Amino acid sequence: MLKTTGVKVKGIGRYVPDLIATNDDYARIVDTNDEWITQRTGIKTRHISNGEPTYYLGALAAKDAIADAGISAKEVDLILATTCTPDYFTPSTACLIQRELDVFGCPAIDINCACSGFVYAVDMARRYLMCDDIKNVLVVATEELSKFVDYEDRSTCILFGDAAAAVVLSKEDDTLFSSFIAADGSGASCLASRALLTINPFRQNESEFDMDMPEPNKHYLLQDGKEVYKFATKAMPLAVEKACERAEITPSDLDAIVPHQANVRIIETAAKHLHVPMEKMVLNISDYGNTSSASIPNAFYDGVKSGRIKRGDKVCFVGFGGGLTYGACILEY
Ligand code: UT7
Repeated sequence: MLKTTGVKVKGIGRYVPDLIATNDDYARIVDTNDEWITQRTGIKTRHISNGEPTYYLGALAAKDAIADAGISAKEVDLILATTCTPDYFTPSTACLIQRELDVFGCPAIDINCACSGFVYAVDMARRYLMCDDIKNVLVVATEELSKFVDYEDRSTCILFGDAAAAVVLSKEDDTLFSSFIAADGSGASCLASRALLTINPFRQNESEFDMDMPEPNKHYLLQDGKEVYKFATKAMPLAVEKACERAEITPSDLDAIVPHQANVRIIETAAKHLHVPMEKMVLNISDYGNTSSASIPNAFYDGVKSGRIKRGDKVCFVGFGGGLTYGACILEY
């Protein structure tokens, strides 16, 4: 096992909206049923925003993590917010979270790597922590997929929920850490939500790019479920194996794998490929559905609070999602 300069998880936090939508609630709005959703995805309920914005969920999760770390918000040197469902193009979600924390000055950056955002952010946090001027990094993953799903499309709307979860990270010497992050832009159209298209008054021609990917002015999330499924079942085990190689361990040495909670069948397939029992996988998908970049830290939060993940455990976070992006990182909790 390779010991290196890695990260310490000083604190964790979470905030989810109170409003809950069950499979039966979806059966009332689209042609679906509890049996199909449970068998094909493993999802039972999701928390859905009742109007609270994305940054607000993130700010409450951040406050929870800062309190758990036992530091004051003033001691945060960098805010990394991961989201693909922001409230604004500008200001960034990270700046809005900083405003809610009432601390000003530290840099605040948004990271949009869809469902892999948390893994990318932990990798990035560790790189910043290698510099002496950054002691505490707040990583906040906050998502409201409910703003982007088409509630007339039964193949996507039943999958997604809203949530935020956060960690405070600091530098730790002589510990286990490795990461592997990657992207494959050739699969960009498999999972896409289009930004609004404004035609400027100077343009003379229709542009070939206007038809690129989903229809202009329809921001709904479009997904080729089968293609994403195929990609996910390859990308997840690959990312775990690469991160393990770099850490000089094998997947069976891990105490817990916290995967992106998109579909329990994808997680079962990944476990098979990795030759690890399902007990290694930390799951809370049945309660929250797919909450994009918030899903890994949210499952991690439940894992820690339930005692499933303990201090000293070798933990692997692994994600995949729009982009297409994928990655894994391994740390000692
Ligand atoms: O973080 C983002 C990453 N996204 C993902 O990881 C999603 C990856 N993909 C998946 O998880 C799965 O492909 C889905 C859950 C989206 C779909 O499951 P599937 O087993 O691939 O189903 P399918 O698309 O092959 O559809 C099978 C049938 C179809 O009916 P026919 O054509 O066989 O008559 C669908 O129309 O199931 C139908 N169907 C539904 N039936 C009831 C699709 N959605 C529903 C639904 N309720 N909600």
